[in-house]
Amino acid sequence: MANYLQDTRKVTTHRLTEMKQRGEKIAMLTAYDYSMAHLIDEAGMDVILVGDSASNVMAGNMTTLPITLDQMIYHAKSVVKAVKRALVVCDIPFGSYQGNSKEALASAVRIMKESHAEAVKMEGGSEIRESIERVLCAGIPVMGHLGLTPQSINKFGTYAVRAKEEAEANKLIEDAKMLEEIGCFALVLEKIPATLATRVAQEVSIPVIGIGAGGGVDGQVLVMHDMLGINKGFSPRFLRRYADLSTIINDAVAHYIDDVKTNDFPNDKEQY
Ligand code: KIV
Repeated sequence: MANYLQDTRKVTTHRLTEMKQRGEKIAMLTAYDYSMAHLIDEAGMDVILVGDSASNVMAGNMTTLPITLDQMIYHAKSVVKAVKRALVVCDIPFGSYQGNSKEALASAVRIMKESHAEAVKMEGGSEIRESIERVLCAGIPVMGHLGLTPQSINKFGTYAVRAKEEAEANKLIEDAKMLEEIGCFALVLEKIPATLATRVAQEVSIPVIGIGAGGGVDGQVLVMHDMLGINKGFSPRFLRRYADLSTIINDAVAHYIDDVKTNDFPNDKEQY
């Protein structure tokens, strides 16, 4: 059995820093409900992100923008109940922290109080510095998120790779250092060139978790539905599929329908 599977101690923000220091990669995956969170935690995941990607994969929206704070708290509550070991981080959704820092704090406090998640994630750099600082001041751990920030999709106009140009790359490096300086415990870098992500991971002391940011960072995150092959319509270059659950589920459901229609199910042993 791998060493990391034997280590059943609760993952904390402090332990993630130690993992970076000793060069142990951090595994992070999204979850939105009790049953999947239970399986993912049992498998030995370090960090479970209750991502606002729930808006896409759970609610069927085109973007992450429509999901509400109440809905995020509902998902986070379900996840927290299942998790024993992983650190549970919950996204603060679009529109509930950008307006002003008081609103940001109120949203983060609701997430912590009502869901019992252990940290929040906020998208953006210098533009939302005041909001992040206010949340941090309340003792709430914050994970930053730079690069492709899906809550800003209407500003970007596309889900293409970010920070390819020097000016945007320099701003991203500055933002990453600022997030480290003000006290964020970790940082997600989404869909940026691998060389830039590697440089950021080398230049900041906090763990840098990548998605579409190459292997030179301190850990990786994927959306559970994508990596398990539940959501087959999404296949960016950075995605590795570890299962083909859509085929497995389709076959199982078709089999069940067939058994019901042909009166094969239930049989004599499957009744009272
Ligand atoms: O919401 C989410 O799933 C995320 C990950 C893609 C990092 O923010």
